[in-house]
Amino acid sequence: MSRAVIAEARHPGGNGGVLFSSRIRYGGDYNPEQWSRNIWVEDIKLMAEAGVNLVTVGVFSWSMLEPSEGQFCFEWLRDVLDLLHASKIGVDLATPTASPPPWVSVDYPESLPVDERGVRYRHGSRQHLCVLSPDYRRLAHRIVEQLASEVGDHEAIELFHVHNEYANHVPFCYCPQHEAAFRAWLARRYGSLQEVNEAWGTTFWSQRYSSFEQIIPPQHTPTWVNPGQQLDFRRFSSDAFFNAFQDEVGVLRRTRPDVPVTTNLMGLFEPLDYFEWAPWLDVLSTDNYPNPADPDAPVNSAMHCDLVRSLNKSLPWMVMEQSPGRVNWQMRNVAKRPGEMRAYSYQAIARGARGLLFFQWRASRSGAEKFASGMVGHSGTKSPVWSEIVALGHELGGLDAIGEAVVMADVAICFSWPSWWAMEAPCQPLNELSLRNQLLWVYTPLYRRGVTVDFCRPDEPLGNYRAVLVPSLYLISPAEAANLVGYVFGGGTAVVTFWSGIVDPIDRVYLGTYGGPLRGLFGGEVVDVTPLPDTEQVDLEWCDGTTTKASTWIDLIDEEDGEVLARVSSGPWAGRPAVLRARRGAGCVFYLGTRLDSAGLARVFDAIFDIAPAISPEQASDKPGLVERVVRRDREFDFEFLINHGPRVETVTLLEPDGTELLTRAHVERSFVLAPQGVAIVRRPRS
Ligand code: GLA
Repeated sequence: MSRAVIAEARHPGGNGGVLFSSRIRYGGDYNPEQWSRNIWVEDIKLMAEAGVNLVTVGVFSWSMLEPSEGQFCFEWLRDVLDLLHASKIGVDLATPTASPPPWVSVDYPESLPVDERGVRYRHGSRQHLCVLSPDYRRLAHRIVEQLASEVGDHEAIELFHVHNEYANHVPFCYCPQHEAAFRAWLARRYGSLQEVNEAWGTTFWSQRYSSFEQIIPPQHTPTWVNPGQQLDFRRFSSDAFFNAFQDEVGVLRRTRPDVPVTTNLMGLFEPLDYFEWAPWLDVLSTDNYPNPADPDAPVNSAMHCDLVRSLNKSLPWMVMEQSPGRVNWQMRNVAKRPGEMRAYSYQAIARGARGLLFFQWRASRSGAEKFASGMVGHSGTKSPVWSEIVALGHELGGLDAIGEAVVMADVAICFSWPSWWAMEAPCQPLNELSLRNQLLWVYTPLYRRGVTVDFCRPDEPLGNYRAVLVPSLYLISPAEAANLVGYVFGGGTAVVTFWSGIVDPIDRVYLGTYGGPLRGLFGGEVVDVTPLPDTEQVDLEWCDGTTTKASTWIDLIDEEDGEVLARVSSGPWAGRPAVLRARRGAGCVFYLGTRLDSAGLARVFDAIFDIAPAISPEQASDKPGLVERVVRRDREFDFEFLINHGPRVETVTLLEPDGTELLTRAHVERSFVLAPQGVAIVRRPRS
């Protein structure tokens, strides 16, 4: 992997804005190669009826574009692009490299990835590729070059879509190419074998390496693999995919520098450090599949949207895939109920999305995903989904007003992929501690209050946020810690939770009381930690004498200068501080040494809202969890979005009275009624 290639391909600033200049983009994955030409003609007529203005073409077309090595076939694709263009439907042209044709794996077996036990995958599904295989890379590079030179100048093309869901299905490959490249990556990162040995602590269990050739990826071992080795293999694997991505981006940008580039991300997807990827895109896009059977799906989905928007705060973002109805990859694929697809669509728009695409346009007749719902289902326009698709398309066509209005986020949640990887490596005090769960723990009460959140890397400028939450930021560099400390001393309010500041970037414990370079913020000394048995809760007594519950974990805290807001009041650790507040510089830190229940967490957030008055207590939704509230703002107007995810009619109250509801064009005063799955977008001039 050469970083030089990456640097060349960089495209500073991004040019994704052109894609959305005057309208919300609407459409889906279009796979015309599965259908005859007369169906294409019908498709395009139906797309026009539904207000579709952007379709992704070619995602899995490699075997149709290059049926055998070096024999290319672009006529059908040109025909499709012509038909779409004639109907003014824009194209998001995908590179087909996520599913090599069978001839690739038969003729070049080393293009196939290898699993942790050394077994090679075979073809017959998709993503059967090793991103470091020279054969795969050469063939992928060539098909992308061919695509770009054969149809890249077609006027229909408005966006390039690189690959599909990088690292999905096979996030790690353990083939000999990966092994050699991992060694080279380590040599570059550490400079010498001595440094690798130091970083991984290889004197433990007699793992000391006397030559680079002895180093292998963390594979099938009798018991726990070295966590430093594992963390570096995760970094390396994320870089390997990133390098393959940059190769394709380079080809596309050389051919059509004017066309923006994206790749479909997957929200909180653990294997890839999307914070590293995001600066290289022109448009952020994501695939979001909330599960209709999950009562927490609205909050999970909101968090997904906020995360993707936050990956690069200067880029536009869009939903590249959502399902019109059912998916087909769960055990029980419950369909979205009437109105739910629309509600999730507006959730994304509320959180800044500039486009909504679906997987897929027309439900397939055969193949593994034939029962995934389509915008056009197996029963064609008779499917109830179709009328919802058409209605939404028309409604979105009238919504240009929201345009570039920015999402107002007063609060940031800090996290990093390396910290996630390190914290979820085996042999932790609590191996069930999940970062996603920790993020949701602090995100959910804010969602319920209508407080919108950005996600930030720990080293990102934080000064504009009223509050910054740091849930279990296990791995932290001194520079990241300095950024957080600087934020607090400069007047910010931080909420730091247990298991933060534990290790340095190479997973070595910061010695002393826990917290490393963050410990000076806590207001108490974390002298040790203990998870709680999984069914056990403890009582916390707050300074006003009231009690709440806590679970999961207890930091054993010795008092220092911090004000003790709550103490453990039951069990063997009774008397220990559990929640502290410490004034630091012009700011303040809340330290949570245990997993507070929702009542306990609400107390902390109530206190923060006192300290940071810009987050109005009125933002607390009057129907917690059911009615979602988000504010977007442009130069002249506030747009307040209200979405009822619940099963009942709700009366909702606006943050400020009087505005125009954009979907009905009705004047609304302070309160109004929102049906189940109902959406309102109230515009009012900025006061
Ligand atoms: C993913 C993929 C699509 C399809 C859908 C099905 O998002 O990118 O190709 O498999 O899931 O839900």
